[in-house]
Amino acid sequence: MLAFYIALCLLGTVSQAAYFSQQPQDQVVVAGQSVTLPCVIVGYRGMVQWTKDGLALGGERDLPGWVRYSLMGDPLSGEHSLVIDSAELGDDAIYECQATQAGLRSHRAKLTVLVPPSDPIVEGGPVVRLKAHTPHNLTCRASGAKPAAEITWYRDGEIMQNAIYSKSLMEDGKRETAVSMLPMVPEDSDSGRTYTCRVLNPAAPAGRQTSVTINVQHPPSVTLSVQPQTVMEGAKVLFICSASANPEITGYRWSKGGVPISEANGDSLEVTADHSYFTDPVSCEVSNSVGSTNVSTLVDVQFGPRLLTEPKPQIVDIGMDAAFTCSWTGNPPLTLAWTKQGSNVVLSNSNTLQLKAVTQDDTGTYTCKAIVPRIGVAERDVTLTVNGPPIITAEATQQAIKHSKGKLECLVGSSPPPDKIVWTFGDMMLSSGSSGRFSVQTVNSDQGVLSSLILSETLAQDFQLRYNCTAWNRFGTGTALVTLEEQEALPLLIIIGASVGGGCVFIVCVITLVSICCRHNAKGPGSTIRM
Ligand SMILES: *[C@@H]1O[C@H](CO)[C@@H](O)[C@H](O)[C@H]1NC(C)=O
Ligand SMILES: *[C@@H]1O[C@H](CO)[C@@H](O)[C@H](O)[C@H]1NC(C)=O
Ligand SMILES: *[C@@H]1O[C@H](CO)[C@@H](O)[C@H](O)[C@H]1NC(C)=O
Repeated sequence: MLAFYIALCLLGTVSQAAYFSQQPQDQVVVAGQSVTLPCVIVGYRGMVQWTKDGLALGGERDLPGWVRYSLMGDPLSGEHSLVIDSAELGDDAIYECQATQAGLRSHRAKLTVLVPPSDPIVEGGPVVRLKAHTPHNLTCRASGAKPAAEITWYRDGEIMQNAIYSKSLMEDGKRETAVSMLPMVPEDSDSGRTYTCRVLNPAAPAGRQTSVTINVQHPPSVTLSVQPQTVMEGAKVLFICSASANPEITGYRWSKGGVPISEANGDSLEVTADHSYFTDPVSCEVSNSVGSTNVSTLVDVQFGPRLLTEPKPQIVDIGMDAAFTCSWTGNPPLTLAWTKQGSNVVLSNSNTLQLKAVTQDDTGTYTCKAIVPRIGVAERDVTLTVNGPPIITAEATQQAIKHSKGKLECLVGSSPPPDKIVWTFGDMMLSSGSSGRFSVQTVNSDQGVLSSLILSETLAQDFQLRYNCTAWNRFGTGTALVTLEEQEALPLLIIIGASVGGGCVFIVCVITLVSICCRHNAKGPGSTIRM
């Protein structure tokens, strides 16, 4: 009877259909925590085993080979729950509880393992050095999180909205790396600010954060001043180069008109100012590790006129235009005046003097005068030569003593010099050499060509003639008529006296001659004195 009941009971167990009273459900666990996947089968005494992503974990209850895995509960009461100790990313899978002999399979339960992000890393931290006014992306990275971390930026505790977020899957195909870039253009005033990058995901709901301090660096800010502002040429001036910088200044370099001044390397420079400081800027270049700043200045040096362009002598043909150019520099600004020697008339106040359709009268020396008010004056002379027909200057009446040597002179000025000079008188014509009592001598001088008609001895008829001095050049001819006048003896003596001696000798001679003369005059006219 008992055996029957046992048999009946066994039969009943087998015949009564086995079923899951508890099945594993989808679950989420934070890495490091433990999790239990429930499995209770009623009416089954056979083998129970779990699968993970379709792979059987084994038949024994302590699951050798799976250190952190075990089965929990009393198998006699049908409990086969799977306990996972200190969950890891590798436990993230689909689990199934199977009653093999009964052909039962549980619900496929998905176990999701959440992983918190690592501490965020801000590039360049903890002190991020940035260059002023240069756009920069402040970059924060949180890796190893599942799901990807959210990232929030704070500036001095105030939330920033303009960050750019991106994320990417890591090699394990489960965790993600998140990056947030906060664009900024650092200003000097941002130095010392604290930027905080805060990351969180469901595995780290409290979040983690990293803060950095901003250090804004800039090339030196430089001002270059001159003391005093205005100096006379030859006075001392001091250049002061004041600069501020972050990081600190590493050096000063000076130059003048682009040429380095190697002996100057401090924040000031003393020089003796000359006119060149008026035109060549002095520059001070200050450097630090992020850059350098170069500032230049001129000096208001006062100086008298300095010639820049020398006027060139001109030779032009009559009727043509002529121009002279002369330029000066000076400080304060100068005034310019062109004049012609022998006249006070100002012909021009500009650098260039224009002369239209010149005549031979325009020949001469012109002066270009520069005046720097209160400082100084300077001038330059330049000559104009006008090519034209010969201009002859001769005394209309020239004198000689009868029966003595006589001379008639005719000066041919102007340019170009004469090709020939001819004396005609009576029926004579002579340009050089001699003929009878007459000979011609020609001498070149600064004033022109001097032609002299020399009479070896004057006769009475010579005083009746008109002497015609004519000169030729390629522009034409010039003529002068001269007559010879008989001369009293006295003026000749004075002339000789004047030519023989100078100064006291001359005066003594005159006195002597005057006294002799008076005595002779007293004797009566007609007498002559020969010396
Ligand atoms: C900052 O990031 C944005 C977006 O990736 C990019 O367009 C920009 O060029 C970056 N700016 C700098 C200064 O790197
Ligand atoms: C600074 O600038 C001036 C003008 O541009 C230049 O001539 C000079 O060489 C510069 N100075 C330095 C030290 O580079
Ligand atoms: C002077 O001489 C030149 C050449 O011999 C002649 O052409 C001219 O007419 C003369 N002049 C006078 C005023 O006699």
